[in-house]
Amino acid sequence: MKILSIESSCDETSAAVVEMGEQNRILSNIVASQIEIHALYGGVVPEIASRAHIEAVSEITYRALSEAGITLKDIDAIGVTNGPGLIGALLVGLNFAKSLAVSNGIPLIPVNHIKGHTAASYFLEDRPEPPFIALVASGGHTSIILVESYTKFTTIGRTRDDAIGESFDKVARIMGIPYPGGAEMDRLASIGDKSAIRFPSAAIADDSLDFSFSGLKTNAVNLLHNYGQKNEEYSKEDVAASYTKAVCSSIVKKLSLAFDRYDVKKLVLAGGVAANSHIRKELTSFCGKRKIAFYVPPKNLCGDNGAMIGAQAYYEYLDGNTAGSDLNAYPSSQND
Ligand code: KG4
Ligand code: ZN
Repeated sequence: MKILSIESSCDETSAAVVEMGEQNRILSNIVASQIEIHALYGGVVPEIASRAHIEAVSEITYRALSEAGITLKDIDAIGVTNGPGLIGALLVGLNFAKSLAVSNGIPLIPVNHIKGHTAASYFLEDRPEPPFIALVASGGHTSIILVESYTKFTTIGRTRDDAIGESFDKVARIMGIPYPGGAEMDRLASIGDKSAIRFPSAAIADDSLDFSFSGLKTNAVNLLHNYGQKNEEYSKEDVAASYTKAVCSSIVKKLSLAFDRYDVKKLVLAGGVAANSHIRKELTSFCGKRKIAFYVPPKNLCGDNGAMIGAQAYYEYLDGNTAGSDLNAYPSSQND
């Protein structure tokens, strides 16, 4: 089954054509990033994001079709992210997808962005089959999810404030690293001393599976401001390494509790932060010790992209979750 999919929930306009079934293949996956525009402001400016999506969505979609070597006539369904995300940004992709679907008589499938992130792992050669536990960590979300079937997701743990990516980006910003600083924090952490600074845990100290990244982030921000006020030299590498160590151990702590609690033997890591080499390494080792199968998409499928939305759209379609012309977008997480 060939699916055209469109993603516009934040600062990437993306369209893809995927072929799903016995084998899952990406025929095209075009991502137009707005990062350069938002970097000027140190973060995503919602109205600018919506306007940039408007300019890009049509061209990106037709480029995805042409790179896949097909036309709309060959498409069996159109998948589109309808939430959560920036409402103005979501509406652009959604309305465009809806118009294409309605005017060409193609089924329209709404896709939850977080479910989409986990579906990026279905393109792995050895792909996960539910049930599994997923850690979805991105700029806007940090959740531990029990995935009972391809479409039944239950959030069992979540951040009570900041997302991991957001906290990486904020600490990076105070160190003068342009938005989004997550990838640069990853690189710096590889050369720093992770024992240089003791940061607090982001794992909430109770028996929940929740996190609080705000406390950890504020601790780092205060430390950096202190260095600044005293004109003291510091090592960005050591800050990045120590911060990343605190993030990794917080994740391992709550995932460990999750696997104690649920009789599941698979872990999927997903979302933009899943590109982090230290988190990938830490979870590989955690899963090895606990005899848990570990799945993580290649780095180019961790960040927002259309192909992951197409993959999830397939399973939504199989479940009969298509939408009519009254489909709307929603900004924050529902039903997940
Ligand atoms: O999933 P995504 O593309 O967008 C959202 O849905 O939010 O995630 C973007 C986030 C940003 O915060 C970015 O800094 C972070 O993912 N990120 C990383 C790395 N690559 C991207 N964070 C840590 N290490 C990385 N290598
Ligand atoms: Zn995302």
